Amino acid sequence: MKGNTIIETKQNIVEDHFYEYNIGAKPFLKWVGGKRQLLNDFQKLYPTELKKKIIKNYYEPFVGGGAVFFDVVQKFEIKNAFLYDINEELILTYLVIQKDVSKLLDFMHQFDKQYKKLSDAKQKEYYYDLRESFNKQRFKIDYDNYSENWIRRAAQTIFLNRTCFNGLFRFNSKGGFNTPMGKYVNPKIVDEQNLLSVSKLLEIATIKKADFREVKHDLDGTSSFLYFDPPYKPISKTSSFTSYSKLNFEDDDQLQLASLYHELNEKGYKLMLSNSDPKNIDPSDNFFDDIYKDYRITRVDAKRSINSDPKKRKPIKEIVVTNY
Ligand SMILES: C[S@@+](CC[C@H](N)C(=O)[O-])C[C@H]1O[C@@H](n2cnc3c(N)ncnc32)[C@H](O)[C@@H]1O
Repeated sequence: MKGNTIIETKQNIVEDHFYEYNIGAKPFLKWVGGKRQLLNDFQKLYPTELKKKIIKNYYEPFVGGGAVFFDVVQKFEIKNAFLYDINEELILTYLVIQKDVSKLLDFMHQFDKQYKKLSDAKQKEYYYDLRESFNKQRFKIDYDNYSENWIRRAAQTIFLNRTCFNGLFRFNSKGGFNTPMGKYVNPKIVDEQNLLSVSKLLEIATIKKADFREVKHDLDGTSSFLYFDPPYKPISKTSSFTSYSKLNFEDDDQLQLASLYHELNEKGYKLMLSNSDPKNIDPSDNFFDDIYKDYRITRVDAKRSINSDPKKRKPIKEIVVTNY
């Protein structure tokens, strides 16, 4: 690997026939349902056409923190990536990193400096003030049109994500971010090297605030790989986290996603989808086994960290559905 890969564009690397894309980029946000710890299992399940360099396009309709995106584009020769998510703050942040990473870093360093010099009590005040202003400001943001005021907001999003409880990026029904402050001794707020690498990788990406159903409009019939990681079907009636945004993801959405999966399968796309296994709670629950019965279902071990009670954090199964 060339030492200066970081300053080359991905396009250059591909044109030079330099097939090593790993510039060390990793998810820049902690994200509930993030797949970093499952990558080793997932790698065994990627389509072989990636390795054979037949697949050039990658689509991820529920991108979240993007663990699989970062893995796939740094291992294989992907020329175009399409990333979607319904969460407007998340997509705003991706777009700012893509377009304006150095201005974003200026804000980040400013927040970091201000925060780190404060006492514990004052840090707490800083967090809650920032959270409040973040929530108030959202009415002034036009999430459909990129503008300068997105940059500060993206910096706030990353700051809050780094300092909030468990990285739980959670919104109440009115769309307000309501996670309390986390207990970190010296949180790493600015990871400059990573943000620069992420920005470089995003040069090949089309990023959209969109519902997953919109992915259809960007497919062009060429050899493509799509990875779907929808919100989990709640694993128990009491497990509360399903809201990444003010919109919930219901069983009916899971069924509509399965219809989309069937439709894209017919068209010849390579598809991979993951979800929590409802059998973790009720061994007779065949929800996904039924709706994806025509495909290969693999069960892998997942350690969920969403449960705040460490005693309840035991390995559970995640299902992976592939059509190849
Ligand atoms: C399980 S997470 C994805 C996690 C991601 N794979 C990672 O590694 O971080 C599910 C994502 O789906 C998004 N989402 C929820 N409903 C959606 C919808 N209708 N269309 C698109 N994205 C949606 C959420 O905002 C969330 O980021």
